[in-house]
Amino acid sequence: MEKYVINGGNTLHGEVEISGAKNAAVAIIPAAVLAQDVCVIENVPNISDVSILFQILNDLGAKVRYLNKNTVEIDTRNITEPVVPYESARHLRASYYFLGAFLGRFGEAHVSPPGGCNFGVRPIDQHIKGFEALGATVTTDYGFINATCDEMFGSHIYLDVVSVGATVNIMLAAVRAKGLTILENAAKEPHIVDLANFLNAMGAQISGAGTDVIKVRGVKALHGGCYSIIPDQIEAGTYMAAVAATGGSVLIRNIIPKHMDCITAKLVEMGIAIEEQGDSIRVTRQHDIQRTNIKTMPYPGFPTDMQPQMAAVLCLANGGTSIINEGIWENRFRYVDEFKRMGAAIQVDGKIAVIEGVGHLTGAPLRACDLRAGAAMVIAGLAASGTTEISCIHFIERGYENLVGKLRGVGADIQIVNQSDDEAAQDVG
Ligand code: EPU
Repeated sequence: MEKYVINGGNTLHGEVEISGAKNAAVAIIPAAVLAQDVCVIENVPNISDVSILFQILNDLGAKVRYLNKNTVEIDTRNITEPVVPYESARHLRASYYFLGAFLGRFGEAHVSPPGGCNFGVRPIDQHIKGFEALGATVTTDYGFINATCDEMFGSHIYLDVVSVGATVNIMLAAVRAKGLTILENAAKEPHIVDLANFLNAMGAQISGAGTDVIKVRGVKALHGGCYSIIPDQIEAGTYMAAVAATGGSVLIRNIIPKHMDCITAKLVEMGIAIEEQGDSIRVTRQHDIQRTNIKTMPYPGFPTDMQPQMAAVLCLANGGTSIINEGIWENRFRYVDEFKRMGAAIQVDGKIAVIEGVGHLTGAPLRACDLRAGAAMVIAGLAASGTTEISCIHFIERGYENLVGKLRGVGADIQIVNQSDDEAAQDVG
């Protein structure tokens, strides 16, 4: 097993190129099953969540072939069994998108409940409510979620909570249902729009993605084609937060500036200079970090997936109290004890964290506890004085392509090092 070793204190300068969006890729790859044809997908991020989905597709009998580093050809014609077993599904949340995709293609799906980051309870009642509204019967037995139907019919579905996953899964199932599905209170994240654009490019009829009412008119079949995934809003935001924490000036390339507005606005409140330049954004920190408050919300609100990274920056504010209100997940402050060992002053009460800006942090051995918490620990380590070692980096590599290479490219002192057997044993334990 490996760990990151960071010698903190370098300011960051130069350019970083942003990869394709993880949360779009992990929806689009299962969606290719619906095409029952050959799809070429460009700007696919090289991350472990994507590798696992490709492994699942291979196990199902699909052919997955890299045409170059970030372009993949997926041929889903030979899939016959709509089954994803526990061993594959447990690794990531997005494995449950095979439920909607299989239902649409086969009228049947058997998928083990998904894994993913642990932020407390992660129910899927809204996905099931949607499948049932389209005419499926859903049961859970022998370790599988089983969804079956003779035929699916369009329906009027109102989500009780705004859910990215349920919006994706219902869109996938509805694409082949007979007639019109109207999904109200839908999620509006950029990756929802990207999935709808992908499906439309393959012959689906979806309108309204990006608003809270999505309409899907069912079609008899989808076809193959070529599609390019949008840039990753959260990866870009993570590098923006890294520059805010360390100081310096970095041009972040290959982004959609509109997607960054919710993050940019907060960083500006914190005294960071942000300049849009076409499909790039320049982030510069010349002054002390100012305190602020953050409440995470569904898009276009401030994204929960940027909350830990911003907490790292706010620890470095020069005095002042910041309040973070986590509006999506029950338990997304599991990283706080690790930050405290770096000298941070944070108090958590339920979904609220109160952060006293302490001006600087000191390096420490840390253990990543989920993807974004791990990224936040990297940011804290880059800004801290001394050495920070981060273990359990497999969490981070689920969602960041070449994090170490990109950070080294802008002047960070970070490397991947093999852990000793003792260290590795402790991380498994
Ligand atoms: N919820 C329900 N019932 C459901 C579904 C969700 O009550 O049937 C609740 C959840 O408990 C949560 C809220 O609704 O409180 C939002 O959950 P959502 O379904 O939107 O989350 P998700 O689809 O499981 C995706 C991202 C997460 C991101 C959230 C929120 C993917 C693969 N994952 O999760 O991304 O935090 O949306 O934006 O798209 C990450 O990338 O680090 C990550 C965790």
